[in-house]
Amino acid sequence: YPPERIRNFSIIAHIDHGKSTLADRLLEQTGVISKTSKNKQVLDKLKVERERGITVKAQSASMFYEYKGMKYLMNLIDTPGHVDFNYEVSRSLAACQGTILLVDAAQGIQAQTVANFYLAFGEGLQVIPMLNKVDLPTAEPERAAQQIESTFEIDSSKILHISAKSGIGVDQVLPAVIENILPPEGSIDQPFKALLFDTWYDKYVGVVCLMAIKEGIIRRGDRIVSSHSKTKYEVTEVGIMYPDPKPTTSLQVGQVGYIICNMKSVSEAHVGDTFYKEKHPVDPLPGFVPAKSMVFAGVFPLDADEFSKLDESIQKLTLNDSSVSVHKETSAALGQGWRLGFLGTLHMDVFRQRLEEEYNANILITAPTVPYKIKYRDGTVKFIKTPADFPDGTTMQEYVESTMEPFVLATMIFPEEYLGQMLELCTTHRGEIQNHTFIDESRVMLTCRLPMSDIVTDFFDKLKSKSQGFASFDYEDAGYDDSQLVKMEVLLNGEPVDALAAVMHKSNVVTVGRDIAKRLKEVIRRQLFDIIIQTAANGKIVARETVKQLRKNVTAKCYGGDITRKMKLLNKQKEGKKRMKKFGKVELPQEAFLGILSSK
Ligand code: GTP
Repeated sequence: YPPERIRNFSIIAHIDHGKSTLADRLLEQTGVISKTSKNKQVLDKLKVERERGITVKAQSASMFYEYKGMKYLMNLIDTPGHVDFNYEVSRSLAACQGTILLVDAAQGIQAQTVANFYLAFGEGLQVIPMLNKVDLPTAEPERAAQQIESTFEIDSSKILHISAKSGIGVDQVLPAVIENILPPEGSIDQPFKALLFDTWYDKYVGVVCLMAIKEGIIRRGDRIVSSHSKTKYEVTEVGIMYPDPKPTTSLQVGQVGYIICNMKSVSEAHVGDTFYKEKHPVDPLPGFVPAKSMVFAGVFPLDADEFSKLDESIQKLTLNDSSVSVHKETSAALGQGWRLGFLGTLHMDVFRQRLEEEYNANILITAPTVPYKIKYRDGTVKFIKTPADFPDGTTMQEYVESTMEPFVLATMIFPEEYLGQMLELCTTHRGEIQNHTFIDESRVMLTCRLPMSDIVTDFFDKLKSKSQGFASFDYEDAGYDDSQLVKMEVLLNGEPVDALAAVMHKSNVVTVGRDIAKRLKEVIRRQLFDIIIQTAANGKIVARETVKQLRKNVTAKCYGGDITRKMKLLNKQKEGKKRMKKFGKVELPQEAFLGILSSK
């Protein structure tokens, strides 16, 4: 297939607008998968992805398609739909020349539609808008088309109306891709040059690299070099995703396919790296900004004996997800564990779920926090990923010049009637409104600068409930800014529990301090002695609560010697303690570690 008969494209959409369903239909239409395996969402490969109906890791698949008597090779590069994984979207886009912007005809443009459009537009890609779900009785395709026209300056008469579910209009999708998206550039006679845009670890064959071939040709047995590390590799297999890996004799300019080349771990495969053939160096392609951890949480085994088993499980899981950062951490309260960095809270949830379900891990996970930045008087700058490490008291007064926290630029889209509430929500979260515009007569797009820490706790939940689910939301990194931050400590019977420490803005100290103490009182079970809960900031006690002692005897109800019943009850009590961590004599449930930062 010469480049003019190849099309590399992706589908971008807001979550649930039907991207995976459309991908399945296209793969069926071209015979890559059979029609009988209905709705199997071939591209969503992880179990959690299928369960949650979200795409986390981008996949790709090749199709052969005949159009006007010519045979074409169509490479579909899937993209994730959740804001946490936006960096995956940009890397997928770098492998394409164009993209389908899929919009749910009933919901219209949503926050991620806008974010994704600008990502693609910024990459210089051809964007083909399509309206999906036109079969729904609630679909309003004209209105959605109008929104697309006014927001993206795209002629609404050119928009395809389809239903990925019922199949309406789907046969026009690939012709539109061929007609509107440019073929890849490059020549087979140039020295080999390829962009590595995705990678994963396969149990049997090791590291698999997904590459877009920008120039030349590659075959099994060739020796290639990474521009990033200058490491040399021997190619042991090349092929296309169809939809599973299928070996081919070569990969040529314009194609998208996989290369296996004896890499030991995915950490050697730098997404955005350029590969060339040994003795034929090339200028590297512009790489990507590496994925940044925005959310950190402590992970500890419930049973200290499981530390090494858990260590192994975490290593295995991160083999396939290099965007998780891992550091060992020791907590006075929780013992040995890790501080893991994630792209966002959904990413964290997915990781936790996989750890528990695929590796049977019994873990305790602390409240998520963002990385703070401290500027010391002597000019040094330090990132704080664990709240317990945040300076306070005299250190703060004597050595710290300023404290900074990360901000994001948030985009929200919602019906006009919620404008007042949305503005209020932003202001109560220390937001700075940047702009609000109407995308049609009754829908508003609001942009606002917000502290990332509020995003990782409860901003999103509040947005959903205050707008009755009608508001959509997306954000991008907006850098660090000075902020008056304070560390809040939690003391149980006078002893600070490092794993419960939190960092917050000065203005929140009193409300949050009282709230934390109250909430802890609710989740800590009565024990055989009084428990005094205190919260303190800068050496001053902010709030105090007491959990009164109780003599709890679960076996009191059993008279006589019914030992089996007694054992049953005792076991039940043991079960209840499963998610508890003993601190001194005080037992803390998982909720104590998770519930701290979010306000109800
Ligand atoms: P992410 O992978 O999370 O980004 O979601 P997605 O955009 O891939 O959405 P998906 O294909 O999973 O579809 C979401 C839901 O919409 C599913 O329940 C689909 O069955 C449904 N759906 C998709 N296309 C159509 C359509 O054309 N009509 C109707 N009625 N439902 C559709």
